[in-house]
Amino acid sequence: MSFDRVAPHYRWLETVAFGQQLQQARIAFVRQLDAPRRALVVGEGNGRFLAALLREHRAVRVDCVEASGRMIVLARTELDDESRVDFIHADIQALALPDQSYDLIVTHFFLDCFTKETLAAVIAKLANSAAPQAQWLVADFCEPGKGWRHLRARLLIAMMYLFFRILAGIEAHRLFNYRPFLQAQGFILTRETLSPNEMIRSELWRCTLPPG
Ligand SMILES: C[S@@+](CC[C@H](N)C(=O)[O-])C[C@H]1O[C@@H](n2cnc3c(N)ncnc32)[C@H](O)[C@@H]1O
Repeated sequence: MSFDRVAPHYRWLETVAFGQQLQQARIAFVRQLDAPRRALVVGEGNGRFLAALLREHRAVRVDCVEASGRMIVLARTELDDESRVDFIHADIQALALPDQSYDLIVTHFFLDCFTKETLAAVIAKLANSAAPQAQWLVADFCEPGKGWRHLRARLLIAMMYLFFRILAGIEAHRLFNYRPFLQAQGFILTRETLSPNEMIRSELWRCTLPPG
């Protein structure tokens, strides 16, 4: 899996396909966050969310784990000041994370890269690195319930999977529901919004488990 080939084209492709809807989903709840101090941003991509997070929360320090070196180069160009960010060029599955350390976890358009089995393991790993009461931001694609919107979304999502499987080598071939895995790790959904086309979901979760 590598997003290196896709990285230079990611932004314009996103704009052509979805306008500003993906970025709006990424930042939907940034202002509503309880001021984070230590954030883990996984699969950040080209840095647009990260720049917004740093602008909005002046005290936050970020560990940004990204498997694509070219995405990291792009993300660096988005930032005025990267002194509060540690870029970690790594596969999250192979990285050792500190226990109960981050009060914010961010996985935007990242969980959809994985099959069900990997998803469960990745979410468990990230949850283990979450501090008590941690917040977790997720933006991702979803399929509207029924009717023509459902068919249109299924077609578009199937095309995206084909594109990213061929060009980036992602393992997933369809969307899996990540919500039960977050719930199993003691997170509850506290805020949620849907894009106008009902294809993009933005969520804020919070950890409810006592310190272990
Ligand atoms: C679909 S892109 C999403 C990028 C961005 N977060 C967004 O909101 O558009 C998935 C990103 O996750 C990164 N990624 C995928 N699998 C990864 C892994 N196992 N470890 C770290 N990063 C990974 C890719 O390099 C890519 O930048």
